[in-house]
Amino acid sequence: MPSPKRKSQVTSEHDDGEVSKKPRTSDDDDVVEDRATTPNAAPDSLINHENAIKYWSGTEASVNGVLGGYPQVSRIDLQGSANFFAKLRRQSKKYPTGPTGRKLRRAVDCGAGIGRITAGFLSNIAETVDIVEPVKSFTDQIKGKDNVGEVYNVGLESWHPDKDGLGPYDLIWNQWCVGQLTDAQLVKYLKRLPSVLSEGGWIIVKENLSNHQYGEDVFDETDSSVSRTDVKFRKLFEEAGLKLVSTELQKGFPKGLYPVRSYALQPR
Ligand SMILES: C[S@@+](CC[C@H](N)C(=O)[O-])C[C@H]1O[C@@H](n2cnc3c(N)ncnc32)[C@H](O)[C@@H]1O
Repeated sequence: MPSPKRKSQVTSEHDDGEVSKKPRTSDDDDVVEDRATTPNAAPDSLINHENAIKYWSGTEASVNGVLGGYPQVSRIDLQGSANFFAKLRRQSKKYPTGPTGRKLRRAVDCGAGIGRITAGFLSNIAETVDIVEPVKSFTDQIKGKDNVGEVYNVGLESWHPDKDGLGPYDLIWNQWCVGQLTDAQLVKYLKRLPSVLSEGGWIIVKENLSNHQYGEDVFDETDSSVSRTDVKFRKLFEEAGLKLVSTELQKGFPKGLYPVRSYALQPR
C-alpha cells in the first residue's frame, strides 16, 4: 500500500538489506505480483479503483489506519516534511522564510486520508488547506477544523482543480497516495496542476520507493496500488513537463521500511 510498509512485504529483501534468492510463493504474504496469471502485465495495469476504495473505506479512520499499522512514523515524517519545505522556502524569492516570510495563502492536501498532514504540518504553514480524498469517512475527521477549506471527495484522477476556480495553490502536497493512480493517470493529473499553481509554488510528491531486485514497480493487491522506483518517478515527472527542483530521502524511519523520497516539482 502507499502507506509506510515493510520492504520484505514486496521485494523479498531481508531487513538487513540482503536480497533473498528465494522465489516468491503464494504463501509469502498478501502482496501479489500476479505474473502467473498476467505474465507481462505492467504493475500499474493491475490497479482497480473500486477495490482500492473498498479497502480504504473499510480501514479505521485513524493515524494507525492510514499509516498501515505504523502510526509511530507520523511524527518523524511530519518533521521531515517541515524541514524539507523550510529548505525550499529558504531558496525561494516568492515565499522566503525569515522576518518577511508569511504563511502561504492556500495549500492542498491530496489523497489526504484523515488529514494527518494538514493537522500536523500544512495548517501551520498555510492560511487555508483544501482536501482531496475519495473516502468520506476519512474526511469527516477533518471537515470544519481550523484552516480547512474546500473538501473534495474524489480520487485525484477525477479532480479537476482548474474547473473549480478556487486556486491558485502555493503548495500541492501528494503523499502516500499517487500509487493509487496508473502511470498514465498520474502523468495526466500532474499535467493539470501547473494551471492552478501560483508562480513560484511547489508540487510535492512524497512516496515509498520500490527497491525491487530487478528495478520494477510493484503492485500491492491489498489496496490495489503500485510502489514505483525512483527512475520511474523521474520519468513520469519529465513526461508531465515538470522540473525537479529538490529531492530528499526521509531520514529516521525504522529499519526495514521502504525508503521514502520527497520530490519538489515546478513547471518547466
Ligand atoms: C496511505 S493513506 C495516506 C493518507 C495521507 N496522505 C497521509 O499520509 O496520512 C492513502 C490515502 O489515499 C487515498 N486514496 C485512495 N485512492 C485514491 C485516489 N484514486 N486518489 C487519491 N487518493 C486516494 C486513500 O483513501 C487513503 O486516504
